[in-house]
Amino acid sequence: MFKAFFKKKNTIESFEDLNIPNHIAIIMDGNGRWAKKRNMPRNVGHKAGVEKVKTISKACSKFGVKYLTLYAFSTENWNRPDQEVNGLMDLLVFFLKNELTEMHESNVRIMTIGDLSRLPEKPRKTMENAIKTTENNDGLYLIIALNYGGRAEIKEAIKHIAQDVKDDKIKVDAIDDSLIENYLYTKNIPDPDLMIRTSGEFRLSNYLLWQLAYSEFYFTDVYWPDFGEHALLEAIKVYSSRQRRFGGV
Ligand code: FPP
Repeated sequence: MFKAFFKKKNTIESFEDLNIPNHIAIIMDGNGRWAKKRNMPRNVGHKAGVEKVKTISKACSKFGVKYLTLYAFSTENWNRPDQEVNGLMDLLVFFLKNELTEMHESNVRIMTIGDLSRLPEKPRKTMENAIKTTENNDGLYLIIALNYGGRAEIKEAIKHIAQDVKDDKIKVDAIDDSLIENYLYTKNIPDPDLMIRTSGEFRLSNYLLWQLAYSEFYFTDVYWPDFGEHALLEAIKVYSSRQRRFGGV
């Protein structure tokens, strides 16, 4: 009986005992190095990364995570060679087209944060269609950060708030945390409880600078294309063992 108990603890089913984060944000890093290790072009790494987007979305639905935010393309990623940028855009379209039906049937709601206006027409339209198709779903909220930058987000919020003050729509004294949050891309989305970055890098890279203020951070050496359900569960176990104090005692 004891043996059976311990066996259960080591299986993927044991997640029911864990404190499951309501919102996980991920920096999916290491696609390029994963490909390089195999003497393959970087876009092969990104393609393998898309497979893990599917795996991790399904695992989050299964574990009861409500929000999953993925850093798919940053405001700085435009500096990569055209071929890689175009490859990433094609992969986004491929993912949204191929997975939309299944995600919709699984009650996934697709959302985005970032400045979509600068995206080429095809990925932008495909994303808008995915958002519209799934807008009434209320299972996993899959938030894809596209042309996203934390500083750009805060800068835009400041401009809008300043304009609204100038137009007498709000008073300076009314500017508090919750007002600012209403001007961010993440309006109505709760802050992440857990931020995961793969591939052994310890940086935020302009990701969710406001929203990650009190989140737990988890870093792993695993490259994103190798990050599967077990690796996610490991991160959740570590999260589950931490005590969050939000600045209190
Ligand atoms: C970082 O790896 C990864 C990215 C910049 C892009 C992530 C994109 C995907 C996983 C595919 C598209 C996403 C969706 C949601 C369909 P890197 O290239 O910086 O890796 P490296 O640091 O090893 O070079």
